[in-house]
Amino acid sequence: MTETSSDPRKQTWERGDYSTAADQSLLVSELLCEAAHLRANESVLDVACGTGVTSLAAARRLADVVGIDFSSSSLEIARKRAAFEQLSNVDFHEGNAEALPYQDATFDVVLSTFGAQFVGDQNAVVTEILRVCKPGGRIGLANWTPGPFFGHFFKLMADYAPKQMKKTPTPELPGVLWGTRERLEELFGDAVQFTSIELRTSRTRARSVDEWVDGTTGNLGPAVTILEQIDEELGAAFVADLRALVEDHNMVSGPDVLLESTYLDVIMRRR
Ligand SMILES: C[S@@+](CC[C@H](N)C(=O)[O-])C[C@H]1O[C@@H](n2cnc3c(N)ncnc32)[C@H](O)[C@@H]1O
Repeated sequence: MTETSSDPRKQTWERGDYSTAADQSLLVSELLCEAAHLRANESVLDVACGTGVTSLAAARRLADVVGIDFSSSSLEIARKRAAFEQLSNVDFHEGNAEALPYQDATFDVVLSTFGAQFVGDQNAVVTEILRVCKPGGRIGLANWTPGPFFGHFFKLMADYAPKQMKKTPTPELPGVLWGTRERLEELFGDAVQFTSIELRTSRTRARSVDEWVDGTTGNLGPAVTILEQIDEELGAAFVADLRALVEDHNMVSGPDVLLESTYLDVIMRRR
């Protein structure tokens, strides 16, 4: 597997417990697997699999699945969940999505939910996805759009992130642009044919604004890292802005929180 242990981005994603966020979008994974028409025995790769929500959805459809991510703490959760569900047709590998440790044309299907879009080197991850997908195979992506709620949330995170966290080859092209057809066409070009593309809504809930803010600043690796790296005053402003963002986007009058976020559910065929 690719050596990633000294990568500060890996350390960022290993902070907190990502399952608290991922569990709010289980339906996204299930719908993506359906849109991809997964079949029994197909070989499936889940890129930047996190706690394995999409890998497990694919394994429940009897595919032979590999999930890869560089966060060892998320992979530990993924493995426990696979064991709990007695799914022996899924494996989890620690590695870098920018240099996938698989041979060319290995997988019938390559999937990623809110994963590939946040890999720092966007061109590298696209090259790798195309390389490991068999000609004629499918690529299925669920990508947050730049719109509300999560698109606005990621913009706020970027506004507060210190410079060293934003060092990517294309800092002017944030990952949420993967939630637009134009950016996907630019990235994947003639190597794919779009089979389906659907704008969907995903809902996130919390018992209170406090629960959402505390859960995010305590469990979402990049948010935890931002707070560690900025001074106290800026940190307080970041938390206050997060709170205001949630209050502004809350679809209900409270005390609970219901947030709606748009995402693109995209299936492409590898030429
Ligand atoms: C927003 S989370 C999504 C996780 C999961 N796909 C889901 O739907 O819950 C993004 C994931 O990308 C992973 N990631 C980011 N950059 C990566 C890279 N270069 N190589 C491997 N994993 C990466 C992070 O560790 C994190 O688990």
